[in-house]
Parts: sequence; C-alpha cells; structure tokens
Amino acid sequence: MTPDIRIRLLTPADAGALIRLAEVDNLFDEDPAVEPSGPLTYDAATSFLGDPSVLFWLAEANGEMLGFLHCCIQRRRNAGPWAELLLMEMGTHAQWRRLGIGRSMILAMEEWMRHRGIEEVWVPANLYATGFYEKCGFAKDEGEILVKALG
Ligand SMILES: CC(C)(COP(=O)(O)OP(=O)(O)OC[C@H]1O[C@@H](n2cnc3c(N)ncnc32)[C@H](O)[C@@H]1OP(=O)(O)O)[C@@H](O)C(=O)NCCC(=O)NCCS
Repeated sequence: MTPDIRIRLLTPADAGALIRLAEVDNLFDEDPAVEPSGPLTYDAATSFLGDPSVLFWLAEANGEMLGFLHCCIQRRRNAGPWAELLLMEMGTHAQWRRLGIGRSMILAMEEWMRHRGIEEVWVPANLYATGFYEKCGFAKDEGEILVKALG
C-alpha cells in the first residue's frame, strides 16, 4: 500500500478531477491500450457528480489519481433496507495494481454503506476482476446478467 493514499467521495465541486480522469481512464481499464473515454464537459461532469444516485470515490496520492470506484444507489421497493448499491465500475491505475488500492476503495464503500443502513452491493463483474471481488468477500449469485443495446 502506498503510504499517503487518500480515498474521497467526489462532489460537484470535483468536476475537474472527473474531467482529468476521462482523459486517461484507459489506464484504469483491463487493457490500458484502449482509447480513453474522451473529453467530458464541465457541465456533464458537474451534473454527474450532483446526481443523488451517484457515488464516486477517487483514490489519490501526491496529487496522482490511483483508482476510482463508481456506484449507483438503487432504491428497494419492499421491506428491509431502503436501498442497495450497484457497483457500476472501478479501476486501479495499471501501474498501481495489486497494492491494496482496490480493496481500500471497497472498504471505503462498505463504510459508507454501514453508516446508511445499506446491506448489499451487487457488481456485474468482468472475468478479469472476478477473483478480486471474491477476495473482497463477494460471492457468485444465481442467474446471469444480460444486456440489450438498442441498435
Ligand atoms: C480489479 C482491480 C480493480 C483490482 O484492483 P487492485 O488495486 O489491483 O486490487 P488489490 O490490490 O486491492 O487486490 C485485493 C486482493 O485481490 C487480489 N486481486 C487483485 N486483482 C485480481 C485479479 N484480477 N484476479 C484475482 N485476484 C486479484 C489481490 O492479489 C489481493 O489479494 P490478497 O488480499 O490475497 O493480497 C484492478 O485489477 C483493475 O483496475 N482492473 C481493470 C479494471 C477492471 O477490471 N475493473 C473491474 C470491472 S468489473
């Protein structure tokens, strides 16, 4: 673990950090050779971070972005906890993997959940990351995740 890593939940005032991340987010992908997701406008970044259903943690050390974790707060319809989390996306910078940063971000998310009475988090994991999630205590559930892209 890097000594002075800091993990913080971003707010709309952090739009600049999200814009900088979008320029280099390929480095947080399974394959860093892909293209970054592309320029993000200030309005788009502010709107995203201001969405009450969005949780976005950034891990940094000495001003360098080392990892991010993006969750969506999903309201539940029935009795029990008021919501659960959907872990949409996370990544550790390719040069900083296997140093505990991913696990630290998961722990930051879990602390946030505990303080708000949320008991479950789901992740549609890619095969590359399944072992990581299992190390962090996630277990496979029955069923499959399907997706439909409107063409
Ligand atoms: C998956 C990912 C976020 C893990 O981040 P990381 O900072 O390297 O993870 P950590 O160092 O905190 O690892 C925690 C534990 O998981 C293990 N682990 C990490 N990546 C793993 C992987 N790909 N497969 C199996 N185990 C893994 C570590 O060895 C460590 O185990 P230990 O506690 O026994 O030492 C990172 O590899 C990544 O950014 N991948 C590309 C993007 C991606 O796949 N995101 C997930 C999308 S669903």
